[in-house]
Amino acid sequence: MASKGTENNEMLTVTDNRTGETYEIPIHEGDVLSAMDLRQIKVEDDDFGMMSYDPAFKNTASTRSTITYIDGSNGILEYRGYPIEQLAERASFLEVAYLILRGSLPHQSGLDQWVHDITFHTYVHENITKLLDGFRYDAHAMGMVISAVAALSTFYPEAKNVEDPEARWFQIQRLVAKMPTLAAFAYRHHRGLPYVYPENELSYTANFLNMLFRIGVKEYKPNPVLERALDVLFILHADHEQNCSTTAMRVIGSSQADPYTAVAGAMGALYGPLHGGANEAVLRMLKRIGSTDNIPDFIERVKNREERLMGFGHRVYKAYDPRAKIIKRTADEVFEVTGRNPLLDIALELEKIALNEEYFVERNLYPNVDFYSGIIYQAMGFPVEMFPVLFAIPRTVGWLAQWQEMLEDPEQRIARPRQVYTGEKRREFDPIEDRG
Ligand code: CMC
Repeated sequence: MASKGTENNEMLTVTDNRTGETYEIPIHEGDVLSAMDLRQIKVEDDDFGMMSYDPAFKNTASTRSTITYIDGSNGILEYRGYPIEQLAERASFLEVAYLILRGSLPHQSGLDQWVHDITFHTYVHENITKLLDGFRYDAHAMGMVISAVAALSTFYPEAKNVEDPEARWFQIQRLVAKMPTLAAFAYRHHRGLPYVYPENELSYTANFLNMLFRIGVKEYKPNPVLERALDVLFILHADHEQNCSTTAMRVIGSSQADPYTAVAGAMGALYGPLHGGANEAVLRMLKRIGSTDNIPDFIERVKNREERLMGFGHRVYKAYDPRAKIIKRTADEVFEVTGRNPLLDIALELEKIALNEEYFVERNLYPNVDFYSGIIYQAMGFPVEMFPVLFAIPRTVGWLAQWQEMLEDPEQRIARPRQVYTGEKRREFDPIEDRG
């Protein structure tokens, strides 16, 4: 690998005090060391060599990527170099999806083709409805959609050809197109309502709203403000570089599993309350707090570590999450149509108090994308069980772009971290009667 470090002769000199040996370790791209360069550091020739230890990958880059840039200290997020604020203001979700997956913004004809291709793939095999029918009436929507996405791999066995770019592109289109259909069907099942099939003349988000909420009318026209708000929320959630679920996607994909199985796995990672399940957890938390009078007591419990302030904090952002800023603005537009969600007052007051509390200030804890999104979703009529699904639909785009990038990256191999074994030394098997 030609690297800035080796070109500019930027080196880190390391002296191993156990042996007195000195090593020159190249510095790549300004401040990156290759963990494999540590392996030359040994006491004995036949030693394994030194490893780095980094639980939860707090300081380890696992890939080079050209998709999403985050500057966590300054609250900057860009997809393929475009600031999130401009994309949320001026682009449609499918335009952004194309940008993330293809690397550049489409021309009009490219966009028309892409919209056509996605619209063309929105239907799912009728047997998927039978699979969904098998779930209990109160099944969580995320569990249903994860199962349905995994099941899609059995309908498209050619998806196993992960080395074939054309076959890959087909699966990408299918996944982007079918996610709203699966999500809407899960919702309709939960409500005991008949499934509504996709309408080709509607936009991506309008069609989704149609499949979710159409009852007893031939034609469904969503409110354009709500349609656009959902489009903006989808843009904000489309990718976020190497987060937990994206890492899961890359790790599963690295064994050359098909993308349906990998997306189902990534959705599993997203489902947890510390990641994409946080939007659901925020709403439950706000309901539990119940009134602004109870906030000081709640904040005390957070400071005493009896509670976690859901929707606050981020591994990368140590400033206000730029997505949360845009969501706050979107909330105002949505509430003009739906009426104000009373939970907003609790959230605003909670944010105000938290941002002035030493506990949060010294830990750089700010609202993240999930703090306000649930309040909007609820005002739009979504039950809380749908919130993580609403995260998964647009994030499918990011997962697939990252999966594709991983497969095309000659430096990537099957993901397989090392461990530091701390268990028992080798010992002999005791027969059961001798075990005391
Ligand atoms: N409430 C209270 N304390 C917190 C919170 C919080 N939400 N987040 C972090 N802390 C504290 C934490 O206890 C720790 O304190 P100390 O150093 O005294 O032990 C310190 O801040 C650093 O936190 P951490 O847990 O080491 O940070 P992390 O990078 O491992 O975790 C996080 C990041 C997002 C999991 C965490 O901030 C959190 O649990 N937030 C609440 C859940 C949430 O909103 N998740 C959505 C993340 S954004 C959407 C997405 O991409 O998934």
